[in-house]
Amino acid sequence: MSSKNIRTVAVIGGGTMGNGIAHVMAQGGLDVVLVDLSADVLQRAVETIGKNLDRQVRKNRISEADRDATLARIRTETDRAAGVAEADLVVEAVPERAELKAEVFADLDAHAPAHAILASNTSSISITEIAASTSRPEKVIGMHFMNPVPVMKLVEVIRGLATDDETTARVMELSKALGKVPVEVNDYPGFVSNRVLMPMINEAVFALMEGVAEPEAIDTVMKLGMNHPMGPLALADLIGLDTCLNILEVLHRELGDDRYRPCPLLRKYVAAGWLGRKSGRGFHDYDG
Ligand code: NAI
Repeated sequence: MSSKNIRTVAVIGGGTMGNGIAHVMAQGGLDVVLVDLSADVLQRAVETIGKNLDRQVRKNRISEADRDATLARIRTETDRAAGVAEADLVVEAVPERAELKAEVFADLDAHAPAHAILASNTSSISITEIAASTSRPEKVIGMHFMNPVPVMKLVEVIRGLATDDETTARVMELSKALGKVPVEVNDYPGFVSNRVLMPMINEAVFALMEGVAEPEAIDTVMKLGMNHPMGPLALADLIGLDTCLNILEVLHRELGDDRYRPCPLLRKYVAAGWLGRKSGRGFHDYDG
């Protein structure tokens, strides 16, 4: 199932997204090296992948043999240089901080083979800027998976200013081979996904702040009226309100247009530590 010339993939960061990316790559028949800072994090990541594969077995989507073969294709590594030494493709999924991505990409550039494609799963940082910290900007690209990775079909494939056609074609082809639907977009703040989604979420928060309706009512209007599977406030809670605020700040700063200004109520919730599902409380209450 794997793409012609990509056999070995290194995934940098074994958190929410990294373990999902390792899961789908290994399930697609690729050899995966999952890299993170500590052995404990990596052990938890592999346990998560195992649990998610077990769920697929229970739903009869894969066999037990598929699960075992998938797990056998994943190895873990805390030494980043060793982890990427054999990689044809590296997918980075470390936290969303521009200076961290720049440091990681300079290091990947130094240690990954010269032919390797370096991809980032960033939701909002410029691919062009990330590419500038390497000596191979033509081989740097965005591979923006959606959460949860094994379930969601979309891969937003982002071309930086210097990304070449061959790199783009190989990433598109690989994404299809993994059973995903890749969509090619250019590198502008928020790409397409967050450029369109975040203003809608922000507007829902303004509507709440102005007392237009209660959270449940706002979400129900968008679910039943617009056929969205989830209301915008519930979706914001799922994504994390801090993440939403970060992405809106990027859109506001980089596009320089006040229509992207984050709603003061969103800032207030984040300041209070009401971050959505992960903290038990956001626009909705998740305690119990
Ligand atoms: P996370 O915080 O769950 O995981 C990040 C992992 O990176 C952690 O396990 C951490 O130990 C590891 N890490 C930190 N510094 C590292 C380093 N120098 N080398 C190796 N590993 C390192 O973060 P999450 O949510 O998985 O996000 C990762 C990226 O994916 C971010 O760029 C984020 O914007 C993007 N993203 C997140 C989505 C989500 O729903 N969480 C959706 C789409 C993209």
